[in-house]
Amino acid sequence: GKELSQDLGVPSPAIIAHRGASHLAPESTAPAYKLARDIGADYLEADLQRTKDGVIVVFHDEALKRTSDIETVFPEKAEQPLSEFTYKELKQLDTGGWFNEKFPDQARDSYVGLNILTLDELIDIAESGNNNPGLYLETKFADKYPGIEKDIIEILERRGWIDGKPKFSDPERKVNDKLGVATVNVMERDSRLIFQSFYSHSIEEFNSLAPSVLRVTLISKDIEEKYGWENIIEETVATSDGIGPVGNLALPWRVNKVHKKGLIVHAYTINSPFQMRILHRSGVDGIFTDRPELALEVYDRT
Ligand code: G3P
Ligand code: CA
Repeated sequence: GKELSQDLGVPSPAIIAHRGASHLAPESTAPAYKLARDIGADYLEADLQRTKDGVIVVFHDEALKRTSDIETVFPEKAEQPLSEFTYKELKQLDTGGWFNEKFPDQARDSYVGLNILTLDELIDIAESGNNNPGLYLETKFADKYPGIEKDIIEILERRGWIDGKPKFSDPERKVNDKLGVATVNVMERDSRLIFQSFYSHSIEEFNSLAPSVLRVTLISKDIEEKYGWENIIEETVATSDGIGPVGNLALPWRVNKVHKKGLIVHAYTINSPFQMRILHRSGVDGIFTDRPELALEVYDRT
């Protein structure tokens, strides 16, 4: 797996800060991402959705009530999905205060009153400081947001994160020819950006609109049960650079099969030192974790 990551320019094992350093600060908020960046996580992971008026924001759940005070601010609309709100409405919510109540040990006064983050603000965070973390961006509920891939790409292009110039003089260079897998068209691969989704149509859309950006297909237990591991690999090899399985699917034989096809494996969501070590031994190339500070220690990256 290490060579495959190297070929793609991705650190191995990659430490991907799941919704930021979300064990220490409210998930998907500025403090969580700033902490992850300053700790030295390789990537900031973010779930993207679109407001009613077309703003791309960072938020995990379809509904707002778990991680905001919507029940106080708009009680009559508390069950509605994020897509039904304008950005101006969402900005009135406190997306940090819930964390202090749920995790009193980690509470901080400064977490009260945090605003929902936009993709642009997340890029600002990734670009400031000295650590230059990458962005690992997921299209959430992608079937509900037609065209969101194009919207995301436009922002990233405007911010200079996508540059489709060919990297190699021979664009047909076989990346994985030593492994005997299919010829891959290698464009400029700025490995600082990775797109991820559970939705294969979303991955396909990214592949056709921004082929130079790495793509990882996420695999839940349900998806694996429905299609089977081998079939999933066969289907994703053409459009993806990696597979992102839930941790307990990442058994050595499965990881091996993925590597044989020239794809990397990033497992989610891995929060205990025990799991971190086991998965490393299973050969995974990186983990999504709420605890990047711990992963850096366990993987001896500090
Ligand atoms: O993106 C990897 C992992 O985050 C997928 O699960 O529900 O936390 O977005 P979820
Ligand atoms: Ca995610």
